[in-house]
Amino acid sequence: MYVCLCNCYTDKQLRDVAREGASSVSKAYRRLGRPAQCGRCISHAREVLEQALFETEPLALPAE
Ligand code: FES
Repeated sequence: MYVCLCNCYTDKQLRDVAREGASSVSKAYRRLGRPAQCGRCISHAREVLEQALFETEPLALPAE
């Protein structure tokens, strides 16, 4: 599904760059080649990245 219509970035592309280490929308977009244009996608792109990062590195629970 398209997340960023200006740059034609999909949720899969965002998840892929998140797994490769992109930890913010600006870093992810830089890796994909173009920065945000209108900015309407930022909130949804952040949610996709956060979900991908959580799936990659779930929050560490404190030791009991
Ligand atoms: S929809 Fe992503 S910058 Fe416009």
